Amino acid sequence: MPLLIKNGHLIGADTEAFADLYCEGETITRIGRDLEVPPGTEVIDATGKLVFPGFIDPHTHLHLPFMGTCAKDDYVSGTQAALLGGTTTLFEMICPPRSMGAGEGYETWLAQAEGKAACDYAHHMGVTRFDAGTADELREIVKRGTASLKVFLAYQGAFGIDDTELYRTLKLARELGAMVCAHCENETLVAERARELVAAGVTGPEGHYQSRPPRVEAEGVHHLCSFAELTGASVYCVHTSCAEALSEAVAARQRGVKVSVETLIQYLLIDKTYAERPGGEGLKYVMSPPLREAANQEVLWGALRSGVVSTVASDHAPFDFYGQKLALGGEDFRNIPNGIPALEDRVNLLYSYGVKRGRMDLSQFVAAASTNAAKLFGLYPRKGSLSIGADADVVVYDPAYRGRLAAAGQRQNVDYNAFEGWEIEGRPWVVTLRGQVAVREGRFVGEVGRGRRLERAATYF
Ligand code: URP
Ligand code: ZN
Ligand code: ZN
Repeated sequence: MPLLIKNGHLIGADTEAFADLYCEGETITRIGRDLEVPPGTEVIDATGKLVFPGFIDPHTHLHLPFMGTCAKDDYVSGTQAALLGGTTTLFEMICPPRSMGAGEGYETWLAQAEGKAACDYAHHMGVTRFDAGTADELREIVKRGTASLKVFLAYQGAFGIDDTELYRTLKLARELGAMVCAHCENETLVAERARELVAAGVTGPEGHYQSRPPRVEAEGVHHLCSFAELTGASVYCVHTSCAEALSEAVAARQRGVKVSVETLIQYLLIDKTYAERPGGEGLKYVMSPPLREAANQEVLWGALRSGVVSTVASDHAPFDFYGQKLALGGEDFRNIPNGIPALEDRVNLLYSYGVKRGRMDLSQFVAAASTNAAKLFGLYPRKGSLSIGADADVVVYDPAYRGRLAAAGQRQNVDYNAFEGWEIEGRPWVVTLRGQVAVREGRFVGEVGRGRRLERAATYF
């Protein structure tokens, strides 16, 4: 059924209007004042609401076998959680173990989504080893519409690659026109410092931070940017957490390196003291890079405003507190499954603590939570914009809503919420995915299996 969203305050990354928006089939077909209502149209009165393009999370893990366990969501729970929080498109990181080739990894991750996704999704292809067959496999994967790669300079022995593999990956990415996303931490420093800490009797979650101080991340960014400079590849630093790492990216950009930067909602809002909470509670907040000194937060907000940081992602990595984090890592921080869930709450937190606290304006909010990811990863203007011809992914947002985040009642399949009790000042009232209503007032009313895999052409030549 066609949809008319009436009397909305439409906000894009660089446009703003009071207008009606008409969606036919899967597409936005008209935008204007006092649009006619053809018979059979569902009318949504958006008076007093904000109307945004569907939000895009550029970094999630729904299927993640990691550290002896597996992240808790699947495409059913994860994509529903995404939609409830206003995210209509997510990017999933394909992270094959080193024992699995790229082609097999690709098929494995594609199969996970088959018939289960409620929102649209795309992938970044993890390159966790680079051997004789890898180049041809990656060429094929890029041809099939996955035009971005992912490398880990961390996680020695799991996903981490060595410098020869990094060099070859970046050279190939340059040739194929694919963006390379990178987890930047020096894995040798992490492993050595962790070993020293445990030998000195430090086994609690505070050891995680101490083994990965800001310089370890900054060295990773510097390292990646040197390789990008020499190969001409375009790179994207995922989950950038601190001023030191940001400075390396800015310096590289000034030298002409094509580097973009992502931060996470976690780094903007919570700090290292959370991971130091007693009684095991700190384990909930162990992720890599670790949560930082609070002073980094204002640096990151400033970098978002100035455009140095392009995107705010969730890096959603849902591991239960009891059955996973505590059970596996309670005795030794090196075994705590790394990650903090945030897919469902990313947008509401960014709105409540970014826009409402005067740290960013509405256009910056849309850019950071939607449009910039679409532009960087080849989806714009089909996604990330309210424009004629775009997919009708629309978030009608209620700025009058007040509520508190809680694990009880959340859709993401994990036994805690890292933002438990935090007040939110707004939430999606109606969310549409390609012209069909998928969320109404906090209830999922969409369709499991309707989510579509998005193919993207390579663009970074
Ligand atoms: O701690 C994190 N970030 N876990 C998820 C995997 C990754 O490094 O992105
Ligand atoms: Zn990472
Ligand atoms: Zn991640």
